[in-house]
Amino acid sequence: MKRSISFPVLCVLCICAASAAFAQPAPKPSDVTLQNLETAFNGESNAHARYLAFAEKADQEGYFQIASLFRATARAEEIHARNHEVEIKRLGGTAQAKIEKPDAKSTKENLEAAIKGETYERDVMYPDFYKQARAVGDAGAVQTFNYARSAETEHAALFTNALGNMATMRVKGATYYVCTVCGYTTTNMDFAKCHTCFSPKDKYVAVS
Ligand code: FE2
Ligand code: FE2
Ligand code: FE2
Repeated sequence: MKRSISFPVLCVLCICAASAAFAQPAPKPSDVTLQNLETAFNGESNAHARYLAFAEKADQEGYFQIASLFRATARAEEIHARNHEVEIKRLGGTAQAKIEKPDAKSTKENLEAAIKGETYERDVMYPDFYKQARAVGDAGAVQTFNYARSAETEHAALFTNALGNMATMRVKGATYYVCTVCGYTTTNMDFAKCHTCFSPKDKYVAVS
């Protein structure tokens, strides 16, 4: 006996077939970690380029100490990018950055933009990425996100201090110190080991 399928049943079957055809598999936890590392790599690479442009502008305006601060933080962001790149390669990815042309304005505006960027990384981006990496037990990603977040916290504080004391920051030859392992940036070398990565002091480089 020939059986026919009713119209409503046919509709349900068509919808199910269409859903199955277009459904995307849920991303694997390691894919999300890799995507976060790539996002962070792109952000750090752009911050490096942006801070070098901001340093040039600060030198032009005679804020020599702020120029040194931007050069030191640029170095730190480069270290973060390098650390992220190691983890990207470990997960089978390729570290690629799309460098946007830095939009350098006045030094005051550049400091404000830098504070905004560092605050976002400190309070939103890195805590989220850290949490995800921790949840999936990726120790390498946890470490690189933790190193970066700690340095961004210090960068936000250094930029905020500079913004509040611009008039006093025309000193030439100011020195900042950057940890080449984790990117922590400071003016005070009165410690035995880096408080973020516990590397010995000799891992720090001076940037003027
Ligand atoms: Fe950074
Ligand atoms: Fe930073
Ligand atoms: Fe360090």
